[in-house]
Amino acid sequence: MKASFSGEVATYYARHRRGYPPEALDALVGAFGLSAEDTVVDLGCGTAQLSLPLAARVGTVIGVDPEPDMLVLARQAALDAATVNTVWMLGTDNDLPALGRLLDGRTIGALTAAVAIHFMDRDALVRASYRYAESSVRYDAPLTVDDMVGGVFSALSTDRLPSTQGRATFAAEVRDALGGRDEVTERVRVWLQFGTPD
Ligand SMILES: C[S@@+](CC[C@H](N)C(=O)[O-])C[C@H]1O[C@@H](n2cnc3c(N)ncnc32)[C@H](O)[C@@H]1O
Repeated sequence: MKASFSGEVATYYARHRRGYPPEALDALVGAFGLSAEDTVVDLGCGTAQLSLPLAARVGTVIGVDPEPDMLVLARQAALDAATVNTVWMLGTDNDLPALGRLLDGRTIGALTAAVAIHFMDRDALVRASYRYAESSVRYDAPLTVDDMVGGVFSALSTDRLPSTQGRATFAAEVRDALGGRDEVTERVRVWLQFGTPD
């Protein structure tokens, strides 16, 4: 089953998917020595879960995604947060060479591909870097039944989304399985993989 990241699925994604904790941003900024001088390309930016906190720490973020509905919501999230240093580009990893030519002469501080590298030509991206490192950050965070259920719907293709009744039934079943609780604590682990030039 493949996610389509369009229509209602994009809305579920924006509403219910977790962002990234400050520790993950610290690790990213530290690994690449990012500063307000840097432009970062957030490939597969989706609805800007990483792009926006990243924009708070660097010069400019270019969010790239092939799904127009995700990009519209990413841009809206940037407007809502009064973020003025993001731009949004409809495209895929295949468009990186053209983007590179467009940015000729400018330093790209980093290219991020958060929860998206499995959609791309991973080998080509990894070949472009020489030093590879991996780390993770852990944190506990509340997870509501609403976010659990919405998170599942955000990973479906639009034609697989249940009816309104089916969605309500699923939410009720999840709540029942949790003994009527509406919220649990999730132990989250975010894996970070870095590829940097020598
Ligand atoms: C699971 S979402 C991740 C969104 C966001 N980066 C995050 O961390 O939540 C994956 C995103 O990758 C995008 N995508 C799929 N194929 C892609 C490709 N070949 N190049 C760039 N992005 C792609 C999808 O449209 C989707 O928005």
